[in-house]
Amino acid sequence: MEISRIEFDEIDSTNSWAMEHASELEADKLSLVVAKGQSAGRGRFDRSWVSPRGENVYATFVFFRDKLWDGVGHVPQVLAMSAVEVLEGLGFKPRLKWPNDVLLSEKKVAGILAETTHCEHGVAVVVGIGINVNMSKERCDSIDRPATSLRVEASDSFYVEQVIDLLAARFSNRLAPFLRDGFAPFLSRFRELVQPPTAQISFSDGRTVWKGKQVGITEEGALLLELASGEVKTFHAGEILFV
Ligand code: BTN
Repeated sequence: MEISRIEFDEIDSTNSWAMEHASELEADKLSLVVAKGQSAGRGRFDRSWVSPRGENVYATFVFFRDKLWDGVGHVPQVLAMSAVEVLEGLGFKPRLKWPNDVLLSEKKVAGILAETTHCEHGVAVVVGIGINVNMSKERCDSIDRPATSLRVEASDSFYVEQVIDLLAARFSNRLAPFLRDGFAPFLSRFRELVQPPTAQISFSDGRTVWKGKQVGITEEGALLLELASGEVKTFHAGEILFV
């Protein structure tokens, strides 16, 4: 899909800008909104996303559909897999933490926030990604959950622009087959990438913290957790906790 790029120096949040300005974007293109820094970067669960200027990737992709479809929940997973491929190409060995966090050395290096809004072009799918590129160890350690950056992991710095370009190329390349054929062709690789080194996990569905074994991913991309009782529960949303 052809990419139309919009760049900001400093902005509150590339996702917030995209949600507010979706109707001004080109209906038949993949828009990419990037900023050098964000003053109010947003994460999942209403958290903030640490967004120092010039250090990391802050990027939001937007595309349009006539209506909401079943597969929209897979869009962040397709973006996460695209980010994994980019990091692999740079020599890293990332894995995913279900549903779509990218980890290096079991610490979060990238997170994804997907939203939708209705506008005159139809449904805007707004999917933002933050990749910690050159953030220092001190700043990573100051985040209240285990976080890392490419620089911390490789003891070397990277060109943020290059990471954005690689990601944009990879995501636009993956998006077309996904929109045509659905998530099924991505499923086996996704299953490999989200398998934790030890299957025992703690999982929050927003109300309860469950402990159990991550035993698989359904065809819809939902998480299967086997409790100590032997019961297997299916979760469509929530968060695996760092322990
Ligand atoms: C998460 O893991 O909690 C999601 C983090 C998403 C951060 C990115 S940075 C670019 C885009 N703009 C935002 O405000 N958030 C996303």
